[in-house]
Amino acid sequence: MRIRLLSGRELDIMAEENLLQALKRQGVYLVASCGGKGICGKCRVRIAEGACRTVSTGKLDHQQIAAGAVLACQTFPEENLVLDIPKESRLVVGDVIETARAKDLFELFQNLDGSISPLVQWIPLQVPLPTLEGNISDIERLTNVAEKQGLHGLTFPHSVISSSADLLRETGGKISLGYTGTGEVFSLSSLSRKERFGVAVDVGTTTIVVYLVDLSDGRIVDVGSTYNSQMRHGDDVITRIVYATESNGLQELRDAVVDDINTLLMPLAEKHSISIDDIESAVIAGNTTMAHLFWGLNPAYIREEPYTPTLNIFPLWRAGTANLALHSQAPVYTVPCVASYVGGDIVAGVLASRMHRQGELSLFMDIGTNGEIVIGNNEWLVTAACSAGPCFEGSGIKQGMRATEGAVESVKIDRRTLEPVLGIIGKAKPLGICGSGMIDAVSELFLCGLIDQKGRFVNGSKTERIREGFEGTEFLFYQDSQRQIVLTEIDIENILRAKAAIYAGISLLLKETGFSFNEIEHVYIAGGFGNYLNVERAIMIGMLPDLPGEKFRFIGNTAIAGAYLCLLSENMRNEAGAIARKMTNIELSVSRLFMDEYLSALFLPHTDISQFPTVTALLDNK
Ligand code: FES
Repeated sequence: MRIRLLSGRELDIMAEENLLQALKRQGVYLVASCGGKGICGKCRVRIAEGACRTVSTGKLDHQQIAAGAVLACQTFPEENLVLDIPKESRLVVGDVIETARAKDLFELFQNLDGSISPLVQWIPLQVPLPTLEGNISDIERLTNVAEKQGLHGLTFPHSVISSSADLLRETGGKISLGYTGTGEVFSLSSLSRKERFGVAVDVGTTTIVVYLVDLSDGRIVDVGSTYNSQMRHGDDVITRIVYATESNGLQELRDAVVDDINTLLMPLAEKHSISIDDIESAVIAGNTTMAHLFWGLNPAYIREEPYTPTLNIFPLWRAGTANLALHSQAPVYTVPCVASYVGGDIVAGVLASRMHRQGELSLFMDIGTNGEIVIGNNEWLVTAACSAGPCFEGSGIKQGMRATEGAVESVKIDRRTLEPVLGIIGKAKPLGICGSGMIDAVSELFLCGLIDQKGRFVNGSKTERIREGFEGTEFLFYQDSQRQIVLTEIDIENILRAKAAIYAGISLLLKETGFSFNEIEHVYIAGGFGNYLNVERAIMIGMLPDLPGEKFRFIGNTAIAGAYLCLLSENMRNEAGAIARKMTNIELSVSRLFMDEYLSALFLPHTDISQFPTVTALLDNK
């Protein structure tokens, strides 16, 4: 059987394949937040012609079904089909995302360390040429010279040995020897070799960022960023772990992330006329699941009690092992992880924030696909993963989406008319609502008295925008001939759950360490979501603690910043290791106290409103 898209493209479909699988196999990707389980409702397509069998209609409402909508993951054709894929259902990965180059990163490096000591060190050697009297082997002569310079216990991989004979003779024995801290020889080259580059990579669950760095001076040559193609198999780490345990899933996920990195890296190298062989080291920072998938390690036990990963501290494996497009012997440093749900991205983040060097109490938060927090100072660090879920990236929210073009990013509701004014990313037609839009929407609905402290719509509100929808009561923010953007009571419940998990996590860590909210001097907000987050609104809904605005600092993508620091300096790598060892992880999922905190935080802004004096004042002045 065949599927024809409205664009005219023809695809085939195999027996027993659903539409989602058939499209994916032929490179047409749909948003599949739940990984094809029929739960998220994001893979919606419209059957324009043809008959099909649908197992479940999941979250589709009657209007959508009447218009021919089906869930691609739940639908099997019975004859040739013509398919219409709406814009919001298309998953765009592979596109290069605009990434601002962090101009002050080198300054940060100079403040923290300043001395460049990459993973590969180079030393010039004069190796005597063989004579009839002294005809010991090439590598023995080389080793003897190296030992005289204090380099003992060198080991040589096959690739170095196999290319050494000609090089030693062509250069008259004048060579540079590159080696790693473990004494393994990386490469031999002529003395004239000058170029040395490295790559720092943030392997995020949603995005991948690559910095190409000149290792001679620390300059960032160029940057690239794209969506993590693993999203084809689900949005969050749990869905990916489940996928990894299915037939060839682990290899597929591994290939996807490595391909993404190589696809970013190769054009950057070409653009700057850099040979791939001159890229001599890499640093990878990612959460524990991403690090496992990158290295092809089974992540299954990360999600099973007692939540143990295969590795937290990764060996210095080679680029060839990872199939990265750099010198195959290039050492790849993986920023150490702390626990199953607190990974190298958080360690890198703490390193870049410098909170581990400060005497005052700091709170570091990365609200991305999960929501990790760290509290501490220069003596101690405690951390926890809040399981906030990827709701702020669109999952679990009827019309939720990532902060890309067409996303509602801000909401204001007129207090008198109760009409909403929406801010849309890219000033395009609204397609859905992203994290910052959700926080705005909930805080506005609350301040207008349209929802109560539990997030329930208030009966008798004077607006027709509150209505009964397919999934219960909802507020209509926007509609045109093709779509309606609503926030349902279930959506609000999910947003409250996510914000409660974050606030309860902070509250619990403070209680465990004997501190109070007011003792926090700095709040560092990392991650892409931070860029759009309105702190006042986040306080209003009780997601962030009610602290003075000047204590909050958005510090951007600290995972890539930390990876960059580790790429340049041994001291930074040692510091990252020390941070990981120093961090005490508190497993919230088994904490009774966390449950209590969480239940109290499920209200707007909180059961104990005295924790939110600013919000109390606002409500009093309403
Ligand atoms: S409902 Fe189809 S991928 Fe989630």
